[in-house]
Amino acid sequence: MFRSTEPTQIKMKTIYLLFLFCHVSSSVKHSYKNFVTTTTGVSNTPEFMITLMINDIEVGYCDSNKKFEVKRETMKNILEDDPQFLKEHVHDCFEKLPNIYKNILNTLTKYWNQSGGVHVLQIQNGCEWDENTGEVVGFLQCGYDGEDFMSLDLKTMNWIALNPQTVGTKQIWDADKFAINEAEISITYIYPELLKKYLKYENSSSLRPVLPSVSLLQKTPSSPVSCHATGFYPDRVDMFWRKDGEEIHEDVDHGEILPNHDGTFQMRVDLNISSVKPEDWSRYDCVFQFSGVKKDVITKLDKAEIRTNRVPPSEFPAAVIGVVVGLLLLLVCITGLFIWWKKKKN
Ligand SMILES: *[C@@H]1O[C@H](CO)[C@@H](O)[C@H](O)[C@H]1NC(C)=O
Ligand SMILES: *[C@@H]1O[C@H](CO)[C@@H](O)[C@H](O)[C@H]1NC(C)=O
Ligand SMILES: *[C@@H]1O[C@H](CO)[C@@H](O)[C@H](O)[C@H]1NC(C)=O
Repeated sequence: MFRSTEPTQIKMKTIYLLFLFCHVSSSVKHSYKNFVTTTTGVSNTPEFMITLMINDIEVGYCDSNKKFEVKRETMKNILEDDPQFLKEHVHDCFEKLPNIYKNILNTLTKYWNQSGGVHVLQIQNGCEWDENTGEVVGFLQCGYDGEDFMSLDLKTMNWIALNPQTVGTKQIWDADKFAINEAEISITYIYPELLKKYLKYENSSSLRPVLPSVSLLQKTPSSPVSCHATGFYPDRVDMFWRKDGEEIHEDVDHGEILPNHDGTFQMRVDLNISSVKPEDWSRYDCVFQFSGVKKDVITKLDKAEIRTNRVPPSEFPAAVIGVVVGLLLLLVCITGLFIWWKKKKN
């Protein structure tokens, strides 16, 4: 129920991009969502996992097996600039939060006399912030063993039982004003601030470009040479081939900028080298540059630098060669036998 599938993510991303391009639109909403999963009785998975999504794109993941992953460049920058914040975050994720959520889950299983077996508590909390109106809408929902269970009503500061069996738990949770208060502070104050900080960093990220690694690729000796850049950020870049330092357009094919899974981008520009004389190769180079930033990556057209996915004969596995040689020998033998038999017959 709380799982966000790839297609929705992609859809949301498209919608978000549309928002970016239509600045006239009166409401620009951004979202900050935590997906928390706590399990008991499941082997091979961490007992506690949390995924943070901003505008429906995963920016961070952490679990009780002490795995801490930052998925977006913007988030990396925020954490690098604020080591104290990073330390607290890691501590919360490895120690504090797993304990809190494990306790809640234990209390629930005990309350329902379900000790033992497999149980899952899922919590989705976060906020939406409207950039134009400044309005913040928070939410917190819980699921237990795959069923909607409880949500927090931020107006009345009471829990809402989402299923008749949870009315008893609601009364117990309602009495815990401290927990409700903590949740409210996170949802209506801490998360919106983090969201705004993230968006601000993202906006100014063009000041902090991440350079790509660039390589030259070629399928066969007669194919175009592909200048391939990957791992760069942001995506406002130019890439082109030069001859004697001048940009060329003839025999050049530009690829599109494509997103990588880690939030960086990749791109390629192909050069058809069929009319380039071998002695002229050194006059060509491939240039990668960020728009408006003086940081170029220049790669010379050099045979020694080209990577290919062709398998040269010398790299054929020995076993294959063995089989081929064996077949040839067999053929020679059969032919020999045939000639000998024919000669004998005559
Ligand atoms: C759990 O078991 C106790 C004692 O057997 C019983 O009194 C209680 O009603 C049970 N709780 C639930 C939610 O069924
Ligand atoms: C990001 O930049 C856009 C365009 O410059 C601006 O309209 C928007 O308010 C900025 N957002 C934040 C959160 O700084
Ligand atoms: C490269 O250019 C040659 C002629 O200049 C042309 O025949 C060939 O089709 C081109 N190759 C590609 C992949 O465009």
